Amino acid sequence: MRKHPGLKTLAPNSRYSLERAKGLKGRSIAITQADLVKKVFVKSYGCQMNVYDAERMADMLATEGYSETKAMEEADLVILNTCHIREKAAEKVYSELGRVRELKKEREAAGQETRIVVAGCVAQAEGKEILRRAPAVDVVVGPQNYHNLPALLQKARAERVVDTEFPVEDKFDHLPKPSKTAIRNRGVSAFLTIQEGCDKFCTFCVVPYTRGAEVSRPVAKILDEAMRLADAGVRELTLIGQNVNAYHGEGPDGSVWSLGRLLHRLAEVPGIARLRYTTSHPRDMDDELIAAHRDLPALMPYLHLPVQSGSDRILDAMNRKHTGDEYRRLIERIRKAQPDLALSSDFIVGFPGETDEDFEDTMRLIADVGFASSFSFKYSPRPGTPAAEIEAQVSEAVKAERLARLQNLLEMQRQAFNRGTVGRTLDVLLEKPGRHPGQMAGKSPYLQAVQIESDRHAIGEIVTVRITQAGSNSLFGEVAGSGSQAAA
Ligand code: SAH
Ligand code: SF4
Ligand code: F3S
Repeated sequence: MRKHPGLKTLAPNSRYSLERAKGLKGRSIAITQADLVKKVFVKSYGCQMNVYDAERMADMLATEGYSETKAMEEADLVILNTCHIREKAAEKVYSELGRVRELKKEREAAGQETRIVVAGCVAQAEGKEILRRAPAVDVVVGPQNYHNLPALLQKARAERVVDTEFPVEDKFDHLPKPSKTAIRNRGVSAFLTIQEGCDKFCTFCVVPYTRGAEVSRPVAKILDEAMRLADAGVRELTLIGQNVNAYHGEGPDGSVWSLGRLLHRLAEVPGIARLRYTTSHPRDMDDELIAAHRDLPALMPYLHLPVQSGSDRILDAMNRKHTGDEYRRLIERIRKAQPDLALSSDFIVGFPGETDEDFEDTMRLIADVGFASSFSFKYSPRPGTPAAEIEAQVSEAVKAERLARLQNLLEMQRQAFNRGTVGRTLDVLLEKPGRHPGQMAGKSPYLQAVQIESDRHAIGEIVTVRITQAGSNSLFGEVAGSGSQAAA
């Protein structure tokens, strides 16, 4: 039974009671608790950008009277915020929609309505096709249009709708700001979108088509959002964008700011102790950004810089516009600025035409550079991208074998990196209660999960922890003092 402060006095069969009280029994419109306290369930797939967008959708729907639920069964509105990056990700949406449709039927039988929205990158890529394949869907809305959701839901009362036009206005100008409570519920580490879209057109990738052209948000708006987050207790900001280091936003003085300059300004926001950014492209690591890794203590010594492949031939076919050696030299330059740097990357195996030799080049690059963490995938041909048209596709069996070898090497590097932190003292930002009573969990500067034996500390505090043990997914440690990372 839903709880609402104003409905406390209702009998358990409140639907009946309410209908009677309002004299509506037997009429087609019955006022139920659900009409008064609507619930929205949002499920996000894919990248951090979708996580951020899901939060913004929830903030917007909060102003329309929806509260967020983590249980799909009790949702009056189900939003699937989808990802189109690989075939598996996109197909997941249709199987999930099958389940939601069943749920819709069950709820219907119990007199409850369920409305279904498909948002995100599959919505953008497939549009009307979703309405055809999934008859229970009410609204399909692209990543640049979700500020229209209330109007679209209204419109969908008459006819199912699709909104995937790239709008001229900026959706951010139409989105309500989150409440302090909503921010607090999301924790002390927050994502902040500073840039969207991509102009790079890597030949395997759908993002330039689903997210559109690169756009940077103005500095003033980012600062405003950062201060609001900090004011509600956020200590760590991860600046996000599909191509975040291509950031070139309008500064307060009208000049164009780079990511390096923006980071310096954000480090001055009171309460913000840690800054991160993701995802960056090797070609956009400019001198100012590299210098920020040297000069800015708040900028965490962790960098996700996807290389995808170590073969020059494949990098060229991918349109990455750099070679393996250029990547190695770039890493050397960044490490010179910040020797204490944990690196992370994305890899694709089995790109069309990838030979054994090309694959060995990737293995060599991994061995040369050394990664603290990574994400790796089998190449998945995506409709409409140039690489999908190449005839020399690599067989599934070869992709699987290469992926296993690559992941084996990367996993060894990850574990070696984690073991290397045992005995060191690291600053840990405490994020939540730990797995067991008396424990707390947080993150090291290198984004490692750390468990500590303590419940004396507050969430949001940065403590110095001596790392005593490296487990397979987390580090364990003892508090050695309050953190050296001063808040600005
Ligand atoms: N903007 C980021 C990546 C965004 S997509 C960048 O330039 O690195 C996240 C990752 O998904 C990519 O880095 C890539 O490794 C992987 N990916 C993208 N398209 C893919 C495809 N068609 N098949 C397999 N993996 C893919
Ligand atoms: Fe995709 Fe390449 Fe753009 Fe990254 S840089 S989002 S991989 S097109
Ligand atoms: Fe997926 Fe779209 Fe992000 S395709 S990875 S959700 S930008």
